[in-house]
Amino acid sequence: MLKQVDHCIWVAEQPLKFLGLEVGTRMTVILQLDSSLLLISPIEINSDLKQTLDNLGTVKYIIAPNLFHHLYLEHSQQLYPQAKIIAPPGIETKQPNLEIALTFDQDLINFNGELEYTPFQGFQGFIPPKIVKVNEIVFFHPNSKTLIITDSAFNFDCNFPFTTQLASRIIGSYQSLKPSWLEKIAIRDKETTRKAINKILAWDFQRVIMAHGNIVEENAKEKLTVGYQWLVS
Ligand SMILES: [Fe+2]
Repeated sequence: MLKQVDHCIWVAEQPLKFLGLEVGTRMTVILQLDSSLLLISPIEINSDLKQTLDNLGTVKYIIAPNLFHHLYLEHSQQLYPQAKIIAPPGIETKQPNLEIALTFDQDLINFNGELEYTPFQGFQGFIPPKIVKVNEIVFFHPNSKTLIITDSAFNFDCNFPFTTQLASRIIGSYQSLKPSWLEKIAIRDKETTRKAINKILAWDFQRVIMAHGNIVEENAKEKLTVGYQWLVS
């Protein structure tokens, strides 16, 4: 089901387990002035959701925001063959048979001037026992003052199952907009990461939509600044 969060942004969610924990996942849908739709981090699109999306506009871009959120790219492209897939560098290692129209490191994509983006350079993940590249792209939608992130910060709370709450308390991302210590210890190039988060925090956003956790509607910039205080200069 599509949920509206602002006049031209919607989200749709589905269950997702990671390391045995229910963390959910969320797709963000942006309607542009030309009635085109952008799908960021696509989920499984059933017939009801497709009908709702079709009533909103025409899907133009299907966007993988990092190297982990690519599982429904092919599924989405089959539903919207006219749409182009945009993905971060390295996607070919995850989806070698998928036709990627544009990549964030090689192509200038202006989204009609309605969506900005930047690579979160230096940000990495830690899935025990190894550190993994994420190549996350962070988006800013100026019209709604919304920041759209994927795995670079979480905000789990009492709406999640008890085991997820417990785990997020242990790894330090319970009821707070910040990365867990798993991401913190994965970051090796702090200076590069510091520059990237400072660039993100320079955007004028009030809301944060993330892939896992509850959307932060108010004072999100202040909360994310606190979440990255250990890194921000
Ligand atoms: Fe994720």
